[in-house]
Amino acid sequence: MNPKSSPTDEPGDNAELIVRQLDRAEVVAHLEAFLAVADDVIGEYWDESHFLAERDQKWELSFAAWKNVTPVGYAIISERAPGHAHLHHFMVKAQMRGFGVGQMLAESMISLVSAKGYQKLTLKVESNNHGARQFYRRLGFTEMHVEESRLWYVLMMKEPEVGC
Ligand SMILES: CC(C)(COP(=O)(O)OP(=O)(O)OC[C@H]1O[C@@H](n2cnc3c(N)ncnc32)[C@H](O)[C@@H]1OP(=O)(O)O)[C@@H](O)C(=O)NCCC(=O)NCCS
Repeated sequence: MNPKSSPTDEPGDNAELIVRQLDRAEVVAHLEAFLAVADDVIGEYWDESHFLAERDQKWELSFAAWKNVTPVGYAIISERAPGHAHLHHFMVKAQMRGFGVGQMLAESMISLVSAKGYQKLTLKVESNNHGARQFYRRLGFTEMHVEESRLWYVLMMKEPEVGC
């Protein structure tokens, strides 16, 4: 999928948008830019320790979207149990939302999770984040249940078509 026309005030706007797997060294090298992706999100708590925490298969499953050498979105995924992948954090930089970046990241992650044979992909989303819930439903996620922790969350799950 090609991204829709992106805004003209974005740094490196003429550059092609690239979505590719993410490795730890890239996060270390661009840590400030990764943290800045979620700058506008109220209550966002991810810091360096969250980005760099080691999780099973994390660097085999996670993706980032880049414009030039700047990350503009990311999907951090790991293996929660055999056959079960979990999306920990999914963000697109505010100025880049609504232009297809999230869709590209999500399609990349779903295809890779499928190709690697995972039977389910889960995520938690704040219950009042209706836009994100709608975005995930359109990708084929179903809502499982609501749980109360720091905030209210909805657990969502997708069963990828294994082997596609
Ligand atoms: C949710 C998020 C990742 C979507 O990324 P995005 O790049 O803006 O999404 P896209 O431009 O690829 O949109 C794909 C489709 O979903 C729809 N969509 C995206 N965000 C939406 C929203 N908030 N409400 C309703 N629909 C939405 C788009 O309209 C588009 O549909 P279309 O192709 O018919 O136009 C992004 O808005 C974001 O980072 N939000 C803040 C962080 C967040 O809430 N993350 C999820 C927490 S778990």
